Amino acid sequence: MEKRAEKRRIVLVPFPAQGHVTPFIQLGQALIKLNKTSEESFKHCLSQLMLQQDNDIACIIYDELMYFSEAAAKEFKLPSVIFSTVSATSRVCGCVLSKLNAEKFLIDMEDPEVQDKVVDDLHPLTYKDLPTSGMGTLDRYLELCREIFNRGTASGIIINTASCLESSSLSWLQQELGIPVYPLGPLHITVSTNSSLLEEDMSCIEWLNKQKPRSVIYISLGSKAHMEEKEVLEMAWGLYDSNQPFIWVISKSLPEEVSKIVSEKGYIVKWAPQNQVLAHPAVGGFWSHCGWNSSLECIVEGVPMICRPFGDEQKLNAKYIESAWRIGIRLKGEVERGQVKRILKRLITDDEGADMRDRSIGFKEKLKASVRVGGSSYNTLDELVKFLET
Ligand code: UDX
Repeated sequence: MEKRAEKRRIVLVPFPAQGHVTPFIQLGQALIKLNKTSEESFKHCLSQLMLQQDNDIACIIYDELMYFSEAAAKEFKLPSVIFSTVSATSRVCGCVLSKLNAEKFLIDMEDPEVQDKVVDDLHPLTYKDLPTSGMGTLDRYLELCREIFNRGTASGIIINTASCLESSSLSWLQQELGIPVYPLGPLHITVSTNSSLLEEDMSCIEWLNKQKPRSVIYISLGSKAHMEEKEVLEMAWGLYDSNQPFIWVISKSLPEEVSKIVSEKGYIVKWAPQNQVLAHPAVGGFWSHCGWNSSLECIVEGVPMICRPFGDEQKLNAKYIESAWRIGIRLKGEVERGQVKRILKRLITDDEGADMRDRSIGFKEKLKASVRVGGSSYNTLDELVKFLET
């Protein structure tokens, strides 16, 4: 292994967005960590590689959205592995939609009875959960699914998930794709690198230190969420009326009225050290857009959630958080201050929220065990390293 590692390199091709770059950096680190060589010798080995003229590349690992890489791999006869930075269930949905499209949608997706049907072997996934509008139009989304999965030359697919969260989706994918599926997450707990592209405002940790245990709601609605001013105001009033302290990640400047409300009970940041915030004992809940990274990071800290998904596959993640893992409550419809106050009470002070926290802590323990020596993700990473060595 060491001899080979000195001669061969792996090309990683991430998609340029925080939610993709973060797990990619973590994957790179995790692979290096499991290598038998020490960090220093690996750095030395990399610098040697960069000086070498020959092109002995062992494998190309690319973000599934950068599927042009597959063509390059094919042309240069290089092994390639897809890295899916979203959940296994999202990938399943892409395959199911692709198949339905190939069959010219023989089932009527508009029929309410069809919509409520569970997709075979994939409880609780129903047809109406399939994210048909994730990447713009349905046609565009289907084209993407086809591109990702119909090339048939990739040697495997890495997914930033763990079998304790998504076992049926993982088995389904393994059977359907016929190539090894490597669930080796959650990657962020296997590494210590901070991969944030933005500067984190650490002052919120000092503020958290002054709050009571499990009292604070942390709010971050992702990089792409667009919220109307009315919704922001209803959220702010609901938070104020609930009397719960909160940290709110919001990059745009708030209207003066909202700033006033917020500064009395909450703390605003443009970008938070999210993992540190979620791990803080004062945090009692996470109001999230349910991006896959945020969802994993939250479950790893055993924090229950309020789900407010926007686009992409976030509704699907919210469905699993609420109905499969039962560690969160979905906030549906228009945001209204009374509803915000009620949902916060359910999450932070009611028994219902305490039960969700208990279940989330159960997953936290399983996830942490999965990346320890002998755990499912640890073993999967080992298998991937063995594949890369051959
Ligand atoms: C995108 C898509 O929107 C999402 O549906 C898909 O699952 C992943 O890619 P994004 O909006 O970037 O996701 O959200 P998410 O996946 O949750 O990733 C956000 C990352 O930014 C997390 O790792 C989170 O820790 C980090 N973050 C967020 C911070 O470090 N600080 C913050 O204040 C907010």
